[in-house]
Amino acid sequence: MFGQRTGYEKESQRVHIGFESGKATIEVIGPQIVNVFAPLHTEGHESRAVEQPNAAFEVCDVQVEERADHLEISTSELTVKVYDHFYVDFYDKAGAPLCLDYRGSRDPFLRRGNVSIAEGEGHEAMRTSGRHKIEILKKMDGGEKFYGLGDKTGPLNKRGYEYEMWNTDDPSPHVESHKALYKSIPFFITLQEASAFGIFFDNPFKTFFDLGKENSDYYYFGADDGNLDYYFIYGPDMKSVVSRYTGLTGRTPLPQLWTLGMHQSRWSYAPEARVLEVAKLFREHDVPLDAIHLDIDYMDGYRVFTWDGERFPDPKAMTDKLAEQGIKIVTIIDPGVKKDKGYGIFDEGLEKGYYATDRDGVTYVNTVWPGDSVYPDFSDEPVRRWWAGNQKIMTDDGVAGIWNDMNEPASFTGPLPDDVRFKNDGRETDHREIHNVYGHLMSRATFDGIKEATGKRPFVITRAAYAGTQKYSTVWTGDNQSFWEHLRLSIPMLLNLGLSGFAFAGCDVGGFSHDCTPELLVRWVQAGAFSPLFRNHTAIGTRDQEPWAFDETTLDAYRKAVKLRYKLLPYLYDLMREAEQTGLAPLRPLVLEFPDDPAAREVNDQFLLGSRILVAPVVEQGKTHRAVYLPQGTWIDYNSGESVEGGRTVLAEAPLDVCPIYVRAGSILPGYPDQKYVGERRIDELLLEVYPGEGGYTHTQDDGESYGYRDGAYNEYRFVQTGGRESVLELRLEKGHAGYGEAYRSFRVTVRGFAAASAKIGGEAVEFETENGNTVLRVPAEAGMLKLEA
Ligand code: NOJ
Repeated sequence: MFGQRTGYEKESQRVHIGFESGKATIEVIGPQIVNVFAPLHTEGHESRAVEQPNAAFEVCDVQVEERADHLEISTSELTVKVYDHFYVDFYDKAGAPLCLDYRGSRDPFLRRGNVSIAEGEGHEAMRTSGRHKIEILKKMDGGEKFYGLGDKTGPLNKRGYEYEMWNTDDPSPHVESHKALYKSIPFFITLQEASAFGIFFDNPFKTFFDLGKENSDYYYFGADDGNLDYYFIYGPDMKSVVSRYTGLTGRTPLPQLWTLGMHQSRWSYAPEARVLEVAKLFREHDVPLDAIHLDIDYMDGYRVFTWDGERFPDPKAMTDKLAEQGIKIVTIIDPGVKKDKGYGIFDEGLEKGYYATDRDGVTYVNTVWPGDSVYPDFSDEPVRRWWAGNQKIMTDDGVAGIWNDMNEPASFTGPLPDDVRFKNDGRETDHREIHNVYGHLMSRATFDGIKEATGKRPFVITRAAYAGTQKYSTVWTGDNQSFWEHLRLSIPMLLNLGLSGFAFAGCDVGGFSHDCTPELLVRWVQAGAFSPLFRNHTAIGTRDQEPWAFDETTLDAYRKAVKLRYKLLPYLYDLMREAEQTGLAPLRPLVLEFPDDPAAREVNDQFLLGSRILVAPVVEQGKTHRAVYLPQGTWIDYNSGESVEGGRTVLAEAPLDVCPIYVRAGSILPGYPDQKYVGERRIDELLLEVYPGEGGYTHTQDDGESYGYRDGAYNEYRFVQTGGRESVLELRLEKGHAGYGEAYRSFRVTVRGFAAASAKIGGEAVEFETENGNTVLRVPAEAGMLKLEA
C-alpha cells in the first residue's frame, strides 16, 4: 500500500516518514510506548479513548538513524525499525526482537468440503476471514499467549481465535462462536517466554482480530475504514503493559465505598411497595445490601428521566425511606428517547437538533422499549452537556447511580443503518465510526452530569463500552443466562476485562435469562462476591433469584458469601485505589501475578483478588470438591487454616457453603466488622488478619464518597510483619499520612495459625486470646511494635 520510503522528518518525539504512496508517523509516547500512524481517514488522531494530555506521555530522548534498508528510531528502551511498505519491527534495547511485522504469504489452514450444503441446513458455516482495508500482520513466535480484548467469550488465552469489535446486543446465549459482544476494547497483550507487550488498535470502526486462527505463523488486526493507528506498549512484564495502557486510555477512578457493596436487581422491581418489600426482606434475612436497581418499568411509558406516577407516586419519599435503611436506588436510563410530542425531553432534543439523523438530515427513528424512538447524538459536545444536565432530574429524586443500557446502540429492528449521521464534535460522520463509541460517550455524559449534580464520585454502569470507558463507568457483561456454562465463562471474561483496563466490572450473579437453581445461585454468589461490581440481576419472567427465593440452606450459604464480601470491603477498596493509581484491576488472572510460572498462564477457573487472595470457585453442578492450582509459595487455606505448599495442584473440599480460598503467607488483610450496609456505623476498629510470613500492607481510610482524598483527606496505615513462620512474630504498625478525622481507634488482630504464649506491645505485656490455634488481640491504632512469642 505504501511502497518505498522516500524520506523522513523529525519533529520532537514524532518522526514523519514519506513513502511513494502515502505517509506515516511514528510517535514516541514514552520510552516504552510507540504510536504507529498513517492518516488513511483523517490527518491526525481522532481518538475517543486517549484524552490529551494523557498520563502515559513522557518527554524523552528519541534518536533517528537512516540505515541501509530501514529507518531506526530508538528510545532508551526500544528500537523501532521502519522499512519499505511501512513494515515496522520492534526490538528491545539489547537488540532482541519483540514484535515483527509478518512478510510471508497468507496461508490459511485448510478447510474442506462444500459449506453451502451445511448452510442449507441452517448451520453457520466457517469461512476464512475476509481481507480488510487495513491489516497489520505480526509474526508469531510459537509460544505466545494473548489476553485482553475486553468482554469476549471463550478462554482466558485468546490464541487461536478470531474476534470482531462491533458492539453487539445478541440475546442468544453467549457462546464461544460469538465474535463480538457489547464492548469494543481493541487492546490485547501478547505474552512471550521472556516478555510481554500490548497492542492498542485505536480505531472505532468495526475491527478484526485474528490471533493465529488463520495460521499459527502470524496474527493480525485490521479494519475496513479509519486510520492505521496503533500503539505498541512494551512491558517487559504484563503489569507494566496494563499500567501503561491505562496511562494512555485512563484509569478507573476510586468509586464510592457503597458501590462495592451488594446490589440487587431484577427486570423489574415495581411498584414502590415491591421495592420496599425487597429492602425489608434483605434486612429481615440479615443479608447485607447497599443498592436496589430499578429496571425500565419505573418509567412512564419508558420515557427516560420520568417516573410512572402510579407505580412510583413520590420517588423522593421512596428514596428517603430506603436511605433510612441504608439502601440506595440506581435507575436504568437507555439512550432511546420516545418520539412523543409533548414529552419534554423529546421536544427539547428535537428543537435543538440533538438527535442522530438519516443522510437527508431528518431525525432518525427506530424502535426500542418506548416504541418509536430517537437517538441522542452523544458524539457532539452540546448533546453530551444536555444529557449530563438531565442526570440532575434523577439525582434530585435521591437516585444514587445510573445504569446505561441498550447503548451499543441497540434497536428492535437490527443494527442501525451505516449511513445514520452524527455531528461528531464538528467533523460529521456516519454510524460506522460512531457505533463502537456511542455507549462510551453516553456514559461519559452520565458521569459528568452526576459529578456536577452531586459533587460525589459518580456511579455509572454501562453495557456498551470502548477503550477508555473505564474512566467513567463500571461495566457488566450483559445478558448471560442461568447456566453453569455461563458461570464458568464469567471468569475469563471478567479477567480479560480487567487486563483491558476495566477495574470495576461484574456479571449478573445468578444469570439473567433462564431460571436459576438454588445450587447455581450459591456457587455464583460465592464467585461473584469477589468481583468489584457485585449485582444479582435477572430477566422479566424468570424465577425469583433473591437469596431467600429457595430454601434455608441456599439462604445461609448466600448470606455467608455476602458477609465475607462485606468483611473484605476495605481490602477491595484499597485495591480500587491501587487501580486508580496503577490501572491494575482487583480481579486478576494467575498469570498476572505469576508470569514466570507456565502453569499459571492458562487457568480459566481460578482468579486472584489483588495479589494476596486466590479463589477457586466451584463451577460445576454437584461438585463438593475441586482441583486447585496453587502457584509457588506457601498458602493458607482460608476455610481450614491449614498451610499448603504451592507449585502444585491440590484437592479442595467444598461443600455447598464453602468456596475454596487461599491466602498467601505473609499477607495482612484489613477487614470490617459485620455490617448490613456500608456506613451502617462508624468503624472505630479495623480487623487485621495476619497470615504469618514476611510482608507488608498499606491501608487507606477516607470518607468513602467525596473527592477529599485527592486533597489529602485520608489516613494511611502501614503494617509490616516479620518472622512469623518461626517462633516469634513481629508486627510493626506505622501511621502514614493523617488527613481524615475519623481515624480508627484500635485494630483487632487475628494471627492465623500462630498460637502465642506471650504478646507485647512496645515491650509491655498485653492481653490476648487463642482460638482454634489463632491468636486474637486488640491493639491501639497507634504506631508501635507488636511482638508475639509462641
Ligand atoms: C437488557 C439488559 O441487558 C438487561 O440487564 C435489562 O434487564 C433489560 N435490557 C431490560 O432493561
